[in-house]
Amino acid sequence: MTRLVGTICVASLALLGGCDEMTPPEGLPPAIDAQLRQDLSRWGVIPIGAMPPQDPALVALGQALMFDKILSGNRDIACATCHAPVQHGGDDAAVER
Ligand code: HEC
Repeated sequence: MTRLVGTICVASLALLGGCDEMTPPEGLPPAIDAQLRQDLSRWGVIPIGAMPPQDPALVALGQALMFDKILSGNRDIACATCHAPVQHGGDDAAVER
């Protein structure tokens, strides 16, 4: 449940970040967009600014580290083993509490 709430918050931030000009994304009725902004304004959420330019060398380094098993103690598991990019960084496994 916590993961679902977190996903919704991140998705909402991404949605707001992509709407700098107060226009709803294609196909989204204005009323829903306004309602979402009103709901999120209670927490002081503001749109994310423009992304800074990325250094391609650092992007390549990050990607290499993410998939490199050498970071693990037994050298048999990488970050991406659990944080699968195709599953949005998750592993689709249930969390026992
Ligand atoms: C064996 C599986 C596994 C591997 C390998 C792994 N992680 Fe994780 N990671 C998890 C799990 C499970 C969580 C969630 C822990 C929790 O919520 O209590 C997590 C949480 C995180 C978080 C916090 C995410 C959040 O929403 O707060 C970050 C950041 C992260 N991992 C980065 C990494 C990086 C970087 C690596 C590689 C160096 C890595 N992980 C390797 C399983 C793994």
